[in-house]
Amino acid sequence: MIPALSDDINALEDFLQQALPYEPSIAPHLLEAMRYVVGGGGKRLRPALVVATATSLGADRDIALAPAAAVEFLHSYSLVHDDLPAMDDDALRRGRPTCHLAFDEATAILVGDAFQALAFELIASAPQLDEASRLQMTALLADAAGWRNMVAGQALDIKETGKQDLDIETLNGLHAAKTGALFRTSVQFGCIAAGHRDDDSFVSLSRFGDAIGLAYQITDDILDVVGTTDSLGKPAGSDARQKKTTYPALIGLDESRRAAYRLYEESMDTLSHLKLAESSLASLVEKIIDRSH
Ligand code: IPE
Ligand code: IPE
Ligand code: MG
Ligand code: MG
Ligand code: MG
Repeated sequence: MIPALSDDINALEDFLQQALPYEPSIAPHLLEAMRYVVGGGGKRLRPALVVATATSLGADRDIALAPAAAVEFLHSYSLVHDDLPAMDDDALRRGRPTCHLAFDEATAILVGDAFQALAFELIASAPQLDEASRLQMTALLADAAGWRNMVAGQALDIKETGKQDLDIETLNGLHAAKTGALFRTSVQFGCIAAGHRDDDSFVSLSRFGDAIGLAYQITDDILDVVGTTDSLGKPAGSDARQKKTTYPALIGLDESRRAAYRLYEESMDTLSHLKLAESSLASLVEKIIDRSH
């Protein structure tokens, strides 16, 4: 891993650990399950994007850690709920039994609820951020996580499971909503932390976030077909088993790879225009696209 990125990930891991609740008198099994979910690793791509965007734009890493942890906790909630029997009904996540199997379904639902609230709490109470930044981040995260985006994308994904009859435009919308929006928000958080609240960089980098978010979900769909359960740490072939509409199911593996690559080029062009082609953000994008798990 690139040294700057690995330092950032270490700082992030420390921050995530100390942001997790530890209060023995409060629902210990719930807090244990929350620790189980976060302790299970994961690539930490969304928080890495927050930090890499902020530092590439000249900010100190420390100012980005609370918003970075917020997007990771929001993401943790989405994975725990995504794996539930009523959703994708998967048994393995990050190489370990999913939360509802390691604990129970009610606990998994509540873990998700708790992580979502914790994400907003972290932003609202981050001492390093000024009030305007906290408010803007709160609104952006609510938009990405809620009924317009992640929840809408998940709702459509579940409704369409077993049918495989979406067209590519609708699938792009679904992917943009369920996955792209949180990537965009991660990049936007980095911009805001660096003081770029509503300028040209904010607008261009928001589009950049959309592009890598979509590329990310296309690659996730591809890996579901070509990856192994061992390398992915989650059940390979889960999408086909459930007849999900995915990129490979709709346009085949080669076309899917080309689509992901075009989005990668588009996002690198944006970084070049912003003179960020040599930044840690550019290195992170390469890592995100060129992955095997
Ligand atoms: C999985 O996300 C869910 C998708 C949106 C594709 P990640 O691939 O980032 O999962 P972790 O956090 O690394 O486990
Ligand atoms: C999950 O997409 C997206 C969200 C959790 C919002 P997937 O269902 O494709 O993710 P995996 O493959 O289970 O990680
Ligand atoms: Mg799913
Ligand atoms: Mg899933
Ligand atoms: Mg998937």
